[in-house]
Amino acid sequence: MYHKPSGHAGVIGAPRRRAVHKEFGVRYSYATHLECSLTGERYDITRLQGLSAAKKPLLARYDLEALRRELPREAIEARAAGLWRWHELLPVPASEHIVSLGEVETPLIPLPHSARPRGFRPAIVKDEGRLPTGSFKARGLCLAVSMAHLHGVRRVAIPTNGNAGAAMAAYAAQADMEAVCFCPDDTPEVNLSEIALQGAAVYRVNGLINDCARLVEAGKAQYGWFDVSTLKEPYRIEGKKTMGLELAIQGKWRLPDVVFYPTGGGTGLIGMWKAWQELVALGWIAPPLPRLVAVQSTGCAPIVRAFDAGASAATPWPNAHTIASGIRVPAALGDFLILRALRDSGGFALAVTDEAIERARTEVGTRDGLLLSPEGAATYAAYQEAAASGRIGADDEVVLFNCASGLKYPMPAVSARLDVNKPLPDDVLSGSVRSRPGSGSGT
Ligand SMILES: Cc1ncc(COP(=O)(O)O)c(C=O)c1O
Repeated sequence: MYHKPSGHAGVIGAPRRRAVHKEFGVRYSYATHLECSLTGERYDITRLQGLSAAKKPLLARYDLEALRRELPREAIEARAAGLWRWHELLPVPASEHIVSLGEVETPLIPLPHSARPRGFRPAIVKDEGRLPTGSFKARGLCLAVSMAHLHGVRRVAIPTNGNAGAAMAAYAAQADMEAVCFCPDDTPEVNLSEIALQGAAVYRVNGLINDCARLVEAGKAQYGWFDVSTLKEPYRIEGKKTMGLELAIQGKWRLPDVVFYPTGGGTGLIGMWKAWQELVALGWIAPPLPRLVAVQSTGCAPIVRAFDAGASAATPWPNAHTIASGIRVPAALGDFLILRALRDSGGFALAVTDEAIERARTEVGTRDGLLLSPEGAATYAAYQEAAASGRIGADDEVVLFNCASGLKYPMPAVSARLDVNKPLPDDVLSGSVRSRPGSGSGT
């Protein structure tokens, strides 16, 4: 049985939303149709859809002209913060179809103490770890599950590096749907456990995410699964789009200069670029738009390789490996869309080593008290590298995406012990990473 959650933003913002409706006479959603991202062919949004006939992602389109006429941006500002304040730019046709666990607006946290080249402004982290299930995957899966539920889907399946499966399991539980997750063997333990505890079937697979995707493909017909893989249905990207919408409203309709995004399947990067195009069409923001930087690991960098080669699509990365499991995606279905967004925005792609990721995680944790995920730490490492090499400027306002709570990942073991019956040692601070030589110094 689907039940409407008590705490979602639609409820929190309901009285104001009704007032806005009355005042401006707007529709709940302005979505009109779906469009093939390659051919532009139109698809019916009232039906359950997967990929286009060309086997490419479908993108939701909106009647932006009508929305521009009917809703001023001040009406959005007047609503309670959170994902659902953007409902006109989301596909869910009415609030009663929302499956929600409380999708908050995530904060922007500056890093004034972490190392950066002299003269550079401190980077700002958009901390997505505050969302339900501790990651930004909640944004996409909340939309995908809401829409699938609306279309009568009973069973969902997903190949996942962990966080997407956790979010899918949570929203599927909320909507009383069956859920199955296929994870690479070395997916973080916490992801496997949270998926299980949220009622989904979960399997470790002796392969990578693309191998897991093949299992979903193989079982679809037999088990009647709806495939919620990255970009294989049209709505995860709409949820992820809200990251770009939020950045706009948090900056009072002015966007940062550069956005570093840890890129696996690239849904968030493509989604943010789409969000900003829509906001420009609405007249709510004006160019210049941020330069987008796709951050990958040197152990799995298909987008970086394709970008640097001037290619319009990426080739699969063999033997992919990195501690940043969320960006270990050897082949992305939306590669051409990621590459297009990078180029159109004047951005670039950068790979960092796992060692740099570990160092970055320690640096930001110890100096600014923000525990990043390895993927988030990768963006900090890339920011430092881009700053040092002159690819970004000292005056640039930089936002880094930390897409999951650092608490979801392995952390250093603590070995220091004290005997309560003995006096405190003189060097009691030696139990702190901060005090160890080489743990980083602001430059
Ligand atoms: C923490 C984290 N960061 C980044 C990513 C990559 O996101 P995207 O698929 O939007 O590129 C993932 C995906 O699993 C993730 O879990």
